[in-house]
Amino acid sequence: MTTILHLDTSARTLDKSRSKHNSISRTLADSFREQWEKKITDTEVIYRDLGANPPDFINELWIAAAFTPDEQRTTEQNSLLSLSDELIDEVIKADIILLSTPMYNYGMPAVLKAWFDQVIRVNKTFTFDLSRGDFPLQPILSGKTMVLISSCGEFGFHVGGVREKMNYLGPHIEVASQYLGIEKFYEIRSEYQEFGDQRHIKSLSYAHTEIINLVSQLI
Ligand SMILES: Cc1cc2nc3c(=O)[nH]c(=O)nc-3n(C[C@H](O)[C@H](O)[C@H](O)COP(=O)(O)O)c2cc1C
Repeated sequence: MTTILHLDTSARTLDKSRSKHNSISRTLADSFREQWEKKITDTEVIYRDLGANPPDFINELWIAAAFTPDEQRTTEQNSLLSLSDELIDEVIKADIILLSTPMYNYGMPAVLKAWFDQVIRVNKTFTFDLSRGDFPLQPILSGKTMVLISSCGEFGFHVGGVREKMNYLGPHIEVASQYLGIEKFYEIRSEYQEFGDQRHIKSLSYAHTEIINLVSQLI
């Protein structure tokens, strides 16, 4: 059985009048799910709508709790970390993390950064050891795949594109995700949303084709 952790992060949720998402990233992630579940029926999906239910931001007390050894934590500290524990358990169970996200101000939405801050945790998802020299962090988890589905209003954020240097979305997520055991990373990007022209239509259609191809490749 394959377990997919599906995370949606767009602030745009369901358009009740159309029973459809306004969100491009959510719609594309749904398409990935549909393609996948058509082919692999033995799939467990854990779903989180971070856009609708943002995780708490971490704070000083949270950091102190995370750095306190398990056996020394107070009840209050355990309760401060309970959301983090729950979110990390979902990551541990997942073979594939299907993450849909918009680009906001050239990076990830705050709700997604809040999720990363909750799940990348010392002695849970990574270890820290100065005897390793200049790179003391090492992931604990391994063997996972991330499928990142992103949507942006502008264009040219790919390697070699006109806005490559303005792209702090996919590259940031890829770097952070190595501490969640992600070893295979794929990004499918829809662009030109703000232009709403033929280029947008073409980009969306290309993203749908890429989804079909990626599902075939992964199974
Ligand atoms: C607050 C905000 C910030 C945005 N910042 C950017 C940006 O920096 N670059 C860009 O190309 N598009 C930007 N956009 C456009 C979105 O990335 C685009 O509308 C995308 O389709 C949103 O994803 P969604 O359709 O899944 O909601 C921004 C949109 C919003 C609402």
